[in-house]
Amino acid sequence: MNKTYLQLKHITKRFEDGRGSVVTAVDDISLTIEQGEFVTLLGPSGCGKTTTLRMIAGFEVQNEGDIILDGKNINNVAAFNREMPMVFQSYALFPHLSIFENIAYGLRVRKYSKEVIRNDVAMACQMVNLVGLEDRYPGELSGGQQQRVALARALVLKPEIILFDEPLSNLDAKLRIQTRTEIKRVQQMLGITALYVTHDQSEALSMSDKVIIMNGGKIAQVGSPLEIYNRPASTFVADFIGNANFINAVVEDSTDRTVTVKLQEKILELAKTELDDTFKPGEQVILSIKPEAVDVSLKPTGFTGRLDVSSFLGSITEYKVEFEESFMTIIHSNTEGLIGDLKMDQPVNLEFKKEFFRVYKR
Ligand SMILES: Nc1ncnc2c1ncn2[C@@H]1O[C@H](COP(=O)(O)OP(=O)(O)OP(=O)(O)O)[C@@H](O)[C@H]1O
Ligand SMILES: [Mg+2]
Repeated sequence: MNKTYLQLKHITKRFEDGRGSVVTAVDDISLTIEQGEFVTLLGPSGCGKTTTLRMIAGFEVQNEGDIILDGKNINNVAAFNREMPMVFQSYALFPHLSIFENIAYGLRVRKYSKEVIRNDVAMACQMVNLVGLEDRYPGELSGGQQQRVALARALVLKPEIILFDEPLSNLDAKLRIQTRTEIKRVQQMLGITALYVTHDQSEALSMSDKVIIMNGGKIAQVGSPLEIYNRPASTFVADFIGNANFINAVVEDSTDRTVTVKLQEKILELAKTELDDTFKPGEQVILSIKPEAVDVSLKPTGFTGRLDVSSFLGSITEYKVEFEESFMTIIHSNTEGLIGDLKMDQPVNLEFKKEFFRVYKR
């Protein structure tokens, strides 16, 4: 790793919609992907993920900016010559070709010998556990198997990078987890660089070396899964990546290292990190805290809310609690002992794990 493989420099893509108005799908983004890295583009629907991937693959041409591959500008290289296979959500297999021929297709187009084709297809089938299914047709395979064919079809070209556009969205939850483990295993085994688009945060967190969060055509944050989960740079990221709760508060005092806020008449001193802005006393701020960093307590804690809903979910209990004019989600781990019978609308004490608070400008 640590060798720059792909770079996007100030890429912008505008589309004209049918009625002549212009949509900026991708708005001046720059990013770097290292050799062998697994990078995820994560963001809500319409934020520009697919457009970014399609520009990299060469299916779409940017209005501004440069794409640099291995040190060379590839702005003018046609899609076919970029050698960046793409794996889609809708497997895009040829229904009238056998699995073998589907996987062999790219090799045939590139005019490889029969022997090489037979060898390489066999190897690709082995890598993704498709051995024995080569003579079937796509219609005779399950969704998960079809997706593995799509992956094999990309792998057989021995590319340096594979682009994935929500490849697992059509699979059920269990198969999605199985297949993502499979993709990650093959990617690591072969040391292939992967650029993976998803709007599923658990997919992004579990698979990636680096996550790029997009919002409205722009990059909202880049970081390791741990960084973006624990230190979201904005309320958008905090909401998107961990379903954080937000609470309005007022700053009492602020130093280089701490921010002191008042919450329900209690003074809370919070550690500041270098990502945080500077705050002035009296300033209105937003505190964020993840559901698992709050708990319902039977003992007095100094913080009180009103229970709205309680859902027992086996390993956890999820509570909705009205607190300071907003509704908070609280995840209680049942291995800590059950809280017991709580009635709707009853007052409950809240315990915050203080070190998990983050402070944002309002
Ligand atoms: N060919 C096109 N013509 C016009 N507008 C387009 C075109 N392709 C994409 N857009 C617009 O560009 C924006 C970004 O689209 P894009 O497909 O990149 O989003 P996305 O992040 O992949 O979303 P999703 O998660 O729904 O797949 C959207 O507003 C979309 O409507
Ligand atoms: Mg998309």
